[in-house]
Amino acid sequence: MDPIPLFFNKKIVLGVTGSIAAYKAADLASKLHQAGAQVDVILTEAAARFVTPLTFQAVTGRPALSDLWAASAEAHVAHVALAEQADLLLIAPATATTIAKLAHGLADNLLTVTALAARGPVLVAPAMDGGMFAHPATQANLETLAGRGVTVLGPAEGRMASGLIGRGRMLEPEELFGQARLALGRGGPLAARRIVVSAGGTQEPLDPVRFISNRSSGKQGYALAQAALDKGAAVTLISGPTALAAPVGATVVAVQTAQEMAEAVLAASADADALLMAAAVADFRPAAVAEHKLKKNAMPEIRLEKTVDILSAVAEARAQSAEQRPTVVVGFAAESQNLLENARDKAQRKRLNLIAANNIAARDAGFSVDTNRVTLIDGGGGVEELPLLTKAQVADVILSRVERYFTPQAW
Ligand code: CTP
Repeated sequence: MDPIPLFFNKKIVLGVTGSIAAYKAADLASKLHQAGAQVDVILTEAAARFVTPLTFQAVTGRPALSDLWAASAEAHVAHVALAEQADLLLIAPATATTIAKLAHGLADNLLTVTALAARGPVLVAPAMDGGMFAHPATQANLETLAGRGVTVLGPAEGRMASGLIGRGRMLEPEELFGQARLALGRGGPLAARRIVVSAGGTQEPLDPVRFISNRSSGKQGYALAQAALDKGAAVTLISGPTALAAPVGATVVAVQTAQEMAEAVLAASADADALLMAAAVADFRPAAVAEHKLKKNAMPEIRLEKTVDILSAVAEARAQSAEQRPTVVVGFAAESQNLLENARDKAQRKRLNLIAANNIAARDAGFSVDTNRVTLIDGGGGVEELPLLTKAQVADVILSRVERYFTPQAW
């Protein structure tokens, strides 16, 4: 995993309790560390029977704390400081016992003492047998925690250590990592902003098995959605079919055709603060969709018709709405020649606040690859040429520019 700026200088305390899912916590600790956070792991005595502190030390580069140290007064003071300074306390896996202790404010081991001293957000990922999770005592304890502002993550349905299928499995490290990221981004510069992002290519059906599409991978759009979440925004991601996993915390609307994308974008952006239209929308579609599969013995003539121009439709809706929503509209221009001229023209026609233009003829930019070379042109004609960056970095710059529209003093 590449380092992620949001995690730099962040202190995360990962509490691990006595469930077989403790082995997955090592993967989670490793991911958090690789992202750039300082990760301090505290194991309960039971957890240390499943995985050793040494495992966590190896993946975090810091000594893992366990109950064996609780007797030392020095250690006690040190970890209270650790809790107070933590940007996040994540307990994964959390057993029924630890959840009960937290709900009742018991502080009988290093982890529960730390939880009482923690000032930042607390995330708890239960892991236990399905019956234990469903028990009214556990449910009441989780409700108490949720009522106190603790975020309860999962558990998921699935196969458990007992061999039974039920609800009690800890969420996967990937998902928990995404939830930690979401929690760190909360309160960021775009907090309380609603941002709509479109991503991926559309598919225009010809018959029940064929469609016309394009080479869009969705990577730049998904990176924009993630960058908006990292800055604390509420994100709706309107996506054409892609192979990508959606960023944790985004509300995903899956669409196939340009028409479906138009409807979804217009509905979501009517009360949004910003729309980032990164999707590669088909400009044409088959005028008629065959009801049955086209047969090869009769060579078909395919007639095309224009699809709706979504950004133009948004511009019209915006002009008619009292609040002129969305406040900021960002378009993208994929060009193979006359980049600046064509992009400027698009920005004007589609009444954009900002357009991100890229040269799709370059090998290190555009479709499918992880890097992009983008020129930003704002409504006033200002041009900012960005160097070759990863799509995540491009997304971060674009969101910083969007941010300026909401903080006028930043210009
Ligand atoms: N776009 C849109 N609706 C369409 C086609 C494109 O809203 N039917 C949006 C894209 O999401 C992008 C911007 O318009 O943000 C520019 O897309 P692009 O394909 O570069 O431009 P076109 O409008 O298709 O113009 P041209 O065919 O002249 O390049």
